[in-house]
Amino acid sequence: MTAPRLQVSDLTLTVGAGAAALTLLSGLSLTLAPGASLALTGRSGSGKSSLLHCLGGLLTPQEGTVTWQPEGAAPVILSAAEEGARAAFRRQHLGFVFQFFHLVPTLTALENVAFMAELAGLGAPRERAEAMLEAVGLADRRHAFPETLSGGEQQRVAVARALVHGPAAVLADEPTGNLDAQTAETVAEVLFTQTRAAGASLVLVTHDAALAAQADRTLALGGP
Ligand SMILES: Nc1ncnc2c1ncn2[C@@H]1O[C@H](COP(=O)(O)OP(=O)(O)OP(=O)(O)O)[C@@H](O)[C@H]1O
Ligand SMILES: [Mg+2]
Repeated sequence: MTAPRLQVSDLTLTVGAGAAALTLLSGLSLTLAPGASLALTGRSGSGKSSLLHCLGGLLTPQEGTVTWQPEGAAPVILSAAEEGARAAFRRQHLGFVFQFFHLVPTLTALENVAFMAELAGLGAPRERAEAMLEAVGLADRRHAFPETLSGGEQQRVAVARALVHGPAAVLADEPTGNLDAQTAETVAEVLFTQTRAAGASLVLVTHDAALAAQADRTLALGGP
């Protein structure tokens, strides 16, 4: 039996302090197999982004553990790691896709993707970036700057950037939330197809029921 790519045990997450403290997650446990996908749904404010940030080591839970097992590497209890180690783990083993793309405006599509491969310390970053842009159907736009790309194209660059270093998982926060329905469908297909092809697990926050239904599993936060 394969070890889970991600194991979350008994997670409790409280944000804010004092009278403003808000417990978003209480005793949450889940596992995700290598290459599997999970959609996080729930009303606004239910804690979807916060959980994603916890999985990525950007937020530290009060209780419980987040353990990642990258392919061919030792398991890492990210929730217990120090900040520097968490940042290093993110650079090497995780890819992020956000609602508003977050591409570097002064870098071309190719440079945005290659930069991430360089950060992960990989050789031939430009060649890897070229191959990933080809995979998301943007080889001919590789020298374009983000502001000259459509929303769907920018998000496909972001998907290429999230996958270029061969991460254990991609964490995506409403990756199609800022796109029209048709474009959203194209981007979702690229996201699912490319993460599967790379053997990366996918955790996806979405308000879109059709998109959530494409994931292997759905976790609804904050009750029905
Ligand atoms: N650092 C913080 N301090 C105080 N409150 C916070 C903090 N971070 C998040 N919150 C609160 O926690 C709740 C959950 O936030 P979160 O962003 O995780 O929700 P979400 O499910 O992603 O919502 P949306 O669908 O609107 O993106 C919100 O009420 C938010 O205001
Ligand atoms: Mg959110």
